[in-house]
Amino acid sequence: MSERGGIFAGDDPFVIARNWLAEAEKTEPNDPNAIALSTVDADGLPNARMVLLKDIEDDAFVFYTNYGSAKAQELDQSGKAAFVMHWKSLRRQIRVRGMIEREEGPQADAYYASRSLKSRLGAWASHQSQPLASRAALMAEVAKVTATHGTNPSRPPFWGGYRIWPTEIEFWADGAFRLHDRFRWSKGEKNDSWSVTRLNP
Ligand SMILES: Cc1cc2nc3c(=O)[nH]c(=O)nc-3n(C[C@H](O)[C@H](O)[C@H](O)COP(=O)(O)O)c2cc1C
Repeated sequence: MSERGGIFAGDDPFVIARNWLAEAEKTEPNDPNAIALSTVDADGLPNARMVLLKDIEDDAFVFYTNYGSAKAQELDQSGKAAFVMHWKSLRRQIRVRGMIEREEGPQADAYYASRSLKSRLGAWASHQSQPLASRAALMAEVAKVTATHGTNPSRPPFWGGYRIWPTEIEFWADGAFRLHDRFRWSKGEKNDSWSVTRLNP
């Protein structure tokens, strides 16, 4: 692995991911932490949507959503997810695949509490992914939850995080004439150690 230097160097893929994201925070116009989250439905039909990556932990990636949403149903049913984050300004991507679990403890409470009051009330008001009659109906729901939950709402029981424990993480950087660099970190089980393979572009 001596040739895995520069932006790919290091023994810990989560440190590399944090470093790349820190670079992207300086170069991307907005949402450098946006990821395209991929799930499969009960029929095996893939689905994808953007969410914001809120934490890169020592061994997992964390995002937050509504547990009644389509994505949550697909995540809970399959127990698996993948995502890709791409930074046009850096011409790099990170691809992740793995197992998921809910983060609905104190960490989710703390993240919920860190959001603006309007966002906290919005989480209460939105039945995410369900049909909505009109914008006015949503605003009426916001008014209702504002009246019932006031200025210090607790985290809704139907809203929280997911943690992705990766079994694969690929770091990709654009190379001249499409001769890109790719390194795939993979492991069989959560407690296994990583093996790293350079891949053809
Ligand atoms: C840049 C961006 C960031 C987003 N971040 C989130 C997020 O962190 N959590 C979330 O639930 N939805 C987020 N959304 C909305 C989702 O893309 C999606 O519309 C919503 O979660 C419903 O998806 P679902 O019906 O597949 O569950 C974001 C959208 C964009 C474009």
